[in-house]
Amino acid sequence: MRIFSLGFLFFLLLLLGSCLNNSVRTNVEFNNNWKFLFKDDSLAYKYSYIDTSWRLLNLPHDWSIEGEFSEDHPTKPAGGALPAGIGWYRKSFILNDSDKNKRVYIKFDGIYRNSEVWVNGNYLGKRANGYISFQYELTNYLKYNGAENSIAVKVDNALQPNSRWYTGSGIYRNVWIVKTSQVHIENWATFISTSNVSNEKAIINISTKFSGDIDQYSNYELKTFLLNENDKEVGNAISQFTSADIKSEISQQIVLNDPELWQPESPYLYKIKIDVFADKIEIDEQEVITGLRYFKFTADSGFFLNGKPYEMRGVNLHHDLGALGAAVNKRAIERQLELMKGMGVNAIRTAHNPPAPELLDLCDKMGFLVMDEAFDVWKKKKVKFDYSIDWEENYKKDLQDLILRDRNHPSIIIWSIGNEIREQFDSTGITIARNLVKIVKNIDTTRPVICALTETDPQKNFIYQSGALDILGFNYKHADWANFKKNFPGQKMIATENMSAYATRGHYDMPSDSTRYWPVKYGDPIIDPNPDYTVSAYDNVCAFWGATHEETLKAYYQYDFISGLFIWCGIDYLGEPVPYEWPAKNSYYGVVDLAGFPKDVYYLYQSIWTNTPTLHVFPHWNWNEGDIIDVWAYYNQADEVELFLNEKSVGSKKKNANDFHVMWRVEYQSGELKAISKKEGKKVLEKKINTAGSPAKIKLLADRSEIQADGRDLSFVTIKILDKENNLVPYASNLVEFNINGPGFIVGVDNGYQASHEPFQASQRKAFNGMCLAIIQSDGDNGTIVLEAISKGLISANISIIAQ
Ligand code: GAL
Repeated sequence: MRIFSLGFLFFLLLLLGSCLNNSVRTNVEFNNNWKFLFKDDSLAYKYSYIDTSWRLLNLPHDWSIEGEFSEDHPTKPAGGALPAGIGWYRKSFILNDSDKNKRVYIKFDGIYRNSEVWVNGNYLGKRANGYISFQYELTNYLKYNGAENSIAVKVDNALQPNSRWYTGSGIYRNVWIVKTSQVHIENWATFISTSNVSNEKAIINISTKFSGDIDQYSNYELKTFLLNENDKEVGNAISQFTSADIKSEISQQIVLNDPELWQPESPYLYKIKIDVFADKIEIDEQEVITGLRYFKFTADSGFFLNGKPYEMRGVNLHHDLGALGAAVNKRAIERQLELMKGMGVNAIRTAHNPPAPELLDLCDKMGFLVMDEAFDVWKKKKVKFDYSIDWEENYKKDLQDLILRDRNHPSIIIWSIGNEIREQFDSTGITIARNLVKIVKNIDTTRPVICALTETDPQKNFIYQSGALDILGFNYKHADWANFKKNFPGQKMIATENMSAYATRGHYDMPSDSTRYWPVKYGDPIIDPNPDYTVSAYDNVCAFWGATHEETLKAYYQYDFISGLFIWCGIDYLGEPVPYEWPAKNSYYGVVDLAGFPKDVYYLYQSIWTNTPTLHVFPHWNWNEGDIIDVWAYYNQADEVELFLNEKSVGSKKKNANDFHVMWRVEYQSGELKAISKKEGKKVLEKKINTAGSPAKIKLLADRSEIQADGRDLSFVTIKILDKENNLVPYASNLVEFNINGPGFIVGVDNGYQASHEPFQASQRKAFNGMCLAIIQSDGDNGTIVLEAISKGLISANISIIAQ
């Protein structure tokens, strides 16, 4: 009996194996075991090249983030002050003979920058753009019968500066090998769009295109299924085509009654599954995630989603992942989005480049509207060697590829063809804008096209004058909103970028109730900068072209016609360390710092944009006796907040109509500060801040104590320095050292301090204002990862993370 079952099992496995081998399309990650050389070697493209001495690594990989900060790196502090240069990657692989009749492609989600690719010594092509996804066909160059194949990729990020922010360097996004039948659906050729969507009904249009020797078959059949979230079929379209039909784009339609609509608060996703048969044999299959929603922008009343007015609460996000650099990790992106959700954000602008595909998948799934942006420059440069030097040869293909790649994401509701483009100031803006909009509309007419502009004088704004934009995006200039309707009659408007207020987490300068413009105007020195390159975290320091969060919000809420507001920016990013220069090396603009720790203003948004009960009181309570300290509170779901110092009431305060916070000016005494929010006299929330004693112990908090043992998943561990009474020590800067055991490793450390030059890849980190971060990554095995944190003179701590 046992022998029979084993034999049967073996037979089943064989059957399964042959089914898998015969599957009509595979799309497999091609990230592991690449060889890397951090210098140029003009022979490295050759098939016979020996790369045994090169470093072995797994992609995604960003070599810049591994480097040391220096102001001498040609990237300069604006680019993150990390190394760039030239690097080579090589990977060998052997194909199964059963793949001989397949067509094989290599797909790169993004390489920064100037990538050139060879297979078995044959040149496949070059892509200059560091953010675009692309693929090459390998079929005709491949070796079978157990022979090795080799891919070689040269990445040239040496010409610097080429960006206004940190880009990263290398194959920093995922790589895939795609295998298909000879005749198959072309890359990015399937377009799922909707028409006549309402709460009662949705029409889903499916169009696609084939490539290969189509005439080898005479009859084609496409069985297309619409599946709901439980994978239950809720609609289908089964159509027959001749080979002549299949040579051009073909279309199908599915009508769905009572659709579940997609929106950020309930991001319901359907799946379209297409099975393709040729002369009755299955030759391809494809699954595309889709969501059903309808929206419109209006000139008078802003944005409507699924028939209702909808307030777009947006942030701009750059692509870097803090200590991980540009190297894509889905969990790290998800954590960023979770942080944004927590403050009530429902829209993301991918400033200022095509994002990682994982970001868009997550936005579909977690519920964010997306403004997908193509360019920061066109033909006219912003820095010496930026994309403007590649514009002429590449812009058309890059823009087309972006729209083709991304057009099936329900989260995307706007295409942006540029950010603060220089051509808005002269007549070349007219032709280029028209051309770019045409390129987009040739592929997708279901979404509006915008450009993020700055010139608010219609006579002087040539991109506006092109008449090509569906909606005008404006960055900053909130004082001009009052004249918008007069200056741009009948136009729709969205505030694509605002604020540019700065803050360093946990740092406070008094007094808090006057705004500092750092600097007051272009070229001026900053008045009264801090010697440690910090910026006060009361929302009272900002760029002269921007405004504080509160000032912007006050203006914004006066105008119903504005379709949405995008904060600059959600999370601190590497590079652009305004208002300082070196030794600062990352931005101050984030509502959240580089390590992912919220700054105080995060809770302003939580109090107005979410239903999370909020009472956030700051600053810390460690000052000199007699100091005059401003105490602020952000709160919601209450009528007032009463503050107590050492059990004595300092008074109750309430927000008036236009207020976003309350403030008390208090003479400091050490002890306990307590705030109580009240509704109709009854306590809602209470918060206490105690004067902390000296650092005594370490506390560890993992964002997730169970992770997947997949070699990718992450746990973000926050390290807090506490006094012996468990109060956070708000000035603590103790050096924390880490030991790790079990199936995981420390992939990055940080503390969010903008002028820290400690490396991100290390097993130690200084706390900054009481906190630091260690990012733990699964190494692929199951088991318990134990992180121990020790620091001289402090009680150590450890934490267990299960990887399974
Ligand atoms: C804007 C620009 C952003 C960022 C920001 C900083 O003008 O579009 O990329 O540089 O300024 O304030």
